[in-house]
Amino acid sequence: MKHTALCSLAIVLLTMTTAFAQDLENGRQLFRNCVSCHNVDSDRNKFGPHLKGVVGRHAGAVADYQYSQAMQAAGAADLVWDETTLAEFLADPQQKVPGTRMRFWGMKPGSDMDDLIGYLKAYP
Ligand code: HEC
Repeated sequence: MKHTALCSLAIVLLTMTTAFAQDLENGRQLFRNCVSCHNVDSDRNKFGPHLKGVVGRHAGAVADYQYSQAMQAAGAADLVWDETTLAEFLADPQQKVPGTRMRFWGMKPGSDMDDLIGYLKAYP
């Protein structure tokens, strides 16, 4: 009994490790949709603000980036980027932050979204 439990634990851990590796790779591929406007591995802004450390950050918080009024207001209203708010924003930027300057068609919710957000988290 005890032995079986240990075995399944090992299998679960093994599966998680593999899935994690695929997630990051998939996330990296998905970030190609963002890279024309965003850096994630440096704090240099492009057309959009850099996304280094974006998970856990207030909206509109990069000091040397000129955000839209809409994004500044969202930050002032305490919008913080986490798994949930990022997923909502990326699914439909104009719905989450009406008037945002980010022109993006929106991603389908689901595992791909998780992979992309996981990738962003890898750059604290
Ligand atoms: C065509 C250019 C463009 C593309 C492509 C784009 N963005 Fe943006 N993004 C922007 C701009 C511009 C802003 C600033 C919006 C504002 O001030 O209203 C922004 C803002 C953001 C913010 C808010 C950042 C903050 O500091 O508050 C996040 C998060 C974000 N983008 C993530 C993404 C991700 C992830 C992708 C790819 C799936 C992506 N963006 C694709 C232009 C783009």
